[in-house]
Amino acid sequence: MSEVVTRLTPHFEQLKKRLPQGFESSLVLPCLRRIQEERGYVADEDIAALTAYIGVPRMQIEQVLSYYTQFRRKPVGRWHLQVCHNVTCSMRGAERALDMLQKRLHIKPGQTTADGRFTLSTVECLGSCGTAPVVMVNDTYHENLNGMKLDALLESLK
Ligand code: FES
Repeated sequence: MSEVVTRLTPHFEQLKKRLPQGFESSLVLPCLRRIQEERGYVADEDIAALTAYIGVPRMQIEQVLSYYTQFRRKPVGRWHLQVCHNVTCSMRGAERALDMLQKRLHIKPGQTTADGRFTLSTVECLGSCGTAPVVMVNDTYHENLNGMKLDALLESLK
């Protein structure tokens, strides 16, 4: 049983009241978002508990988790740096930014620094192509990045 899902069930009940009967599967996305806010990521036990609570196949929850890159399946560092490496950002220097972050943090995408401060990820388009290249740090976008701005950004992350 997931303590997080148990704790959030009153909130989920409020969400459920807003839905017409038969549309319970629409709870998957908002419930997952709330779980991630609470725990920091979505654990296997959360998926099992949510499957039972909503009454949808586990595969449906897994599909939502794999489609939306903002969902995490394991803990991340205090600062989660997500580097967009889609076409526009790549054309405007995303690979250089990623190289620089890897060298400065001594980790590769998907890894967390030994002190737990930084996790580095690559993501597809963050929807801010006009201000490429873009790195998302936790919930904040950092746009039009260059080497100097990345240096200043890392210095600001304590
Ligand atoms: S390609 Fe990076 S924000 Fe769209």
